[in-house]
Amino acid sequence: MNEVLKSFLINFSLKDGLSPDRESIKRQLSNMNGMYSDQKAYEQLIKEDPLIYEFYDCGILEKESSIAFGTSITYPGKVGNEYFMTKGHFHNIMDTAEVYYCLSGCGYMMMETMRGNWETQKMTTGTAVYVPGNYAHRSINTSDLEPLVTFFAFRGDAGHDYGKIESKGFRKLIVEKDGQPEIIDNPKWEN
Ligand code: NI
Repeated sequence: MNEVLKSFLINFSLKDGLSPDRESIKRQLSNMNGMYSDQKAYEQLIKEDPLIYEFYDCGILEKESSIAFGTSITYPGKVGNEYFMTKGHFHNIMDTAEVYYCLSGCGYMMMETMRGNWETQKMTTGTAVYVPGNYAHRSINTSDLEPLVTFFAFRGDAGHDYGKIESKGFRKLIVEKDGQPEIIDNPKWEN
């Protein structure tokens, strides 16, 4: 390959995660139909169609030796009692890990394997979460006020597979109960 490799810089704000250098990819509530457990609350909120999260794809060459990176910003809010979250995905190359470093805000990384092993890690400013290979992963913002801002990095050719997790969602949900986040079973996974 005659590829010319060049270094480059991108600015990401430590405060809100946004970059003045790139256009982010945005996901509004209407991009997540069927992903929240309370469909009635979804229908109510869809009138406003709030921005749920945004992230950056820095256009890294998709090859094994590359590292894809960017920030992800999940905004505060709830659909019914379920916190705003990202769609979540497996990687196309399943056994590829990812690191998320929380720049600001707080929330959870929800993870699960095809076989049903699941894990959560609490994220607060300054914590890094290691997501092992073969785990689908989703960011959940449990703050009422602040965006959950993370910086992520993963193998450049890993790719994203949203489909596997899209029909039934993750096995666990994080909802607000008595003002606190609580992990509950996803009713769609019963029986
Ligand atoms: Ni990922």
